[in-house]
Amino acid sequence: MVYPLVRQALFRLDPERAHEFTFKQLRLISGTPFEGLIRQSLSGRSVKCMGLTFKNPLGLAAGLDKNGECIDAFAAMGFGFIEIGTVTPRPQAGNDKPRMFRLLEAEGIINRMGFNNLGVDHLVENVKKARFDGVLGINIGKNKDTPVEQGKDDYLTCINKIYPYAGYITINISSPNTPGLRTLQYGEALDDLLSAIKNKQKELEVKHHKYVPVVVKIAPDLSEAELIQIADSLIRHNIDGVIATNTTLDRSLVQGLKYADEAGGLSGRPVQLRSTEVVRRLAEELQGKLPIIGVGGIDSLLAAREKIAAGASLVQIYSGFIYKGPPLIKQIVNYL
Ligand SMILES: Cc1cc2nc3c(=O)[nH]c(=O)nc-3n(C[C@H](O)[C@H](O)[C@H](O)COP(=O)(O)O)c2cc1C
Repeated sequence: MVYPLVRQALFRLDPERAHEFTFKQLRLISGTPFEGLIRQSLSGRSVKCMGLTFKNPLGLAAGLDKNGECIDAFAAMGFGFIEIGTVTPRPQAGNDKPRMFRLLEAEGIINRMGFNNLGVDHLVENVKKARFDGVLGINIGKNKDTPVEQGKDDYLTCINKIYPYAGYITINISSPNTPGLRTLQYGEALDDLLSAIKNKQKELEVKHHKYVPVVVKIAPDLSEAELIQIADSLIRHNIDGVIATNTTLDRSLVQGLKYADEAGGLSGRPVQLRSTEVVRRLAEELQGKLPIIGVGGIDSLLAAREKIAAGASLVQIYSGFIYKGPPLIKQIVNYL
């Protein structure tokens, strides 16, 4: 594949237009002989984690395929697992455009998409149509117009609907683009949410004769004390795993760059070190009691290895994939 050329063409477009154009092409070729154009056969090792078998330890991070429209196309590229969403109970438009910016010099992205998605029912229909037989994560959030005090109900609504179709479920409480969402990461609000979710999981396990692991996705912008509290809460509630990290609000590494002052979450290379540090601290606190999925700025085999060395069992990419394309999957999967 000639990704540098493809990228050159895509990067001439506004980031969201490039995204829409790419998704349109992927939907067109998926399931046809042209799928061969994006297919990569890789030699990754499978990984057992949370009672699931992952084809290889590299996953697609949430947010790229919010509605589960291109699951088979991403599977063809060689991802060991795919996380779709964030999805909310009801469809919502997200924030006004423009809302996604490339920080080229830093290989970063700032986004304030605001959970634009077509709603959980639409996502489930897409999942039913997919042929992918690997681990499919479904990442859920709350609608913007649901008061944060009632946010729990949105998560429970989504869990009810996706449970039979998910390999694992991600509770996203770390997006910076839904007002108040990150407050669910702390204290009583977190305990209350996790306890309700675990009860729902127990109920649905009996109903569907299937245990679906629940993981929590956290922000990189947590103090030491907050991180320790969260780790303690995850252990107490028997949560199955944790994804670290989401995007950051910190701009210290991109000061002076074009778009650096845009509101939203920063991802890609500028968040790499901080995410790895969070993985390392979490690993110390969790002591192997639950696995960590490491994400944030992975843009090379080395960066993936650093996340694993810091304590991650699996890794995910988003921004690195935008900048490096499918060859990055090959580089990581073949040697990790
Ligand atoms: C444009 C964009 C949209 C995103 N949307 C979501 C989302 O809906 N849910 C979520 O959990 N994370 C979302 N993320 C965060 C990524 O999944 C990932 O945690 C973060 O970008 C760090 O990884 P990276 O540096 O490889 O991009 C989004 C990231 C980007 C760049």
